[in-house]
Amino acid sequence: MSAETPVPKEVAAIKGTKDILPGEVELWQKAEADAKGLFERYGYRELRAPVIEATELFEKGTGETTDIVTKEMYTFTDKGGRSITLRPEYTPSVVRAIIEHRLDLKPDPLRFYFIGPMFRYDKPQKGRYRQFHQIDIEVFNEKDPAIDAEIIEMADALLKLLGVAGAETLVNSVGCRACRPAYSRNLRARAEKVRDKLCPDCQRKITTNPLRIFDCKVDGCREQAKGFPRITDYLCAECREHFAKVRAYLDLYGVAYRVEPNLVRGLDYYTKTTFEIVSGGLGAQNSLLGGGRYDDMMKDFGGPDICGIGFAMGMERLISVLTVRPEKRKFLYFAYRGEDGKRKVLELARLFRRRGVECLVEFGDRSFKNQFARANKLGAAWVCVVGEDEIRAGRFQLKDMAAGTQTEGSPDELLRVLS
Ligand code: HAM
Repeated sequence: MSAETPVPKEVAAIKGTKDILPGEVELWQKAEADAKGLFERYGYRELRAPVIEATELFEKGTGETTDIVTKEMYTFTDKGGRSITLRPEYTPSVVRAIIEHRLDLKPDPLRFYFIGPMFRYDKPQKGRYRQFHQIDIEVFNEKDPAIDAEIIEMADALLKLLGVAGAETLVNSVGCRACRPAYSRNLRARAEKVRDKLCPDCQRKITTNPLRIFDCKVDGCREQAKGFPRITDYLCAECREHFAKVRAYLDLYGVAYRVEPNLVRGLDYYTKTTFEIVSGGLGAQNSLLGGGRYDDMMKDFGGPDICGIGFAMGMERLISVLTVRPEKRKFLYFAYRGEDGKRKVLELARLFRRRGVECLVEFGDRSFKNQFARANKLGAAWVCVVGEDEIRAGRFQLKDMAAGTQTEGSPDELLRVLS
């Protein structure tokens, strides 16, 4: 199909989704490989859960008053009459998997990572997709505030490894079931006083979940929220001490951060530490990653009383702030003529590939000149010429395209040059 021919509307990509094409995908592959390598060095192992889950998992886990559950889930009834949801986030799936497989009874550390697609029916805009990808990590059964600091340090290390500069780390504590109710009551009373200055959505939140008012992007609501009580002034002794230690360990690591008392995050399950890493380069959707502690989810699902903490980074947002491009891979282009040439090339390419050389063999009846022009255009590092004389002699020409030099040799000799 030519560039001018649009794909028919009925089969076009779904709004809010995007194809990741060669040229961009190399950035994804490198970021994914770097992330996996880093997480494994911190003792994390991959846990792959299904894309579809029971709708109740997110209603209960993510939280019934969240925007995700109230407005954004891709939910359908399957042929068996069961309500199914395409996962909007990963955290509840990991919790479910631990309970189902009783991973808590095994000796291995409960530290998991995963990279994959998530789905939210939100209004698409820059940095906000309906199918997006997260790099997610979760840790369980670690009460010590040192783990809160360690995962923030790990996120920081990942961004440094990927060459992301200019990101800012925000931390907060949202308290626990002991201290948050008193705070929520005060916040509700305060918000009630300025009800008519808040947007309709925030007016609703006064009743459902007043903390969520801090998430609102409407200027008027943000202005009002500045005068609201701060959660950090209401923390119980345990939460206060936990938060102080998280900050002390972050200082020990030398991770720069700012305490942001309005950072409540858009999910219901957080207890104690919440954090976000934001980047000015992202525009309105400036959160590169977000996470926090969730000490009650596992037991609320009827599982063991095991605390959890984790974060998720948006891959699309990460890719958009990467400035370091991965090096272009070197490959060899085979130039040949006729059926005999093709047969020899098939043989040679098989040998070379087995020895680790990336080879491109294109089929068709092109002249040598044409094939050289094509290799040049594609950016081949080498061209191997397989003509009648070469086949007869069992020795082939290898041209180094950047240096302009040519080597003649047997396949083994050429392989030595190539490695
Ligand atoms: P979240 O803040 O909802 O947290 O999402 C984490 C990250 O996913 C965001 O910072 C953003 O980079 C990316 N993201 C979210 N929605 C979209 C979207 N529509 N389009 C593109 N990127 C998006 C969570 O999902 C929690 N599960 C994080 C967590 C893990 N907390 C504890 N463990």
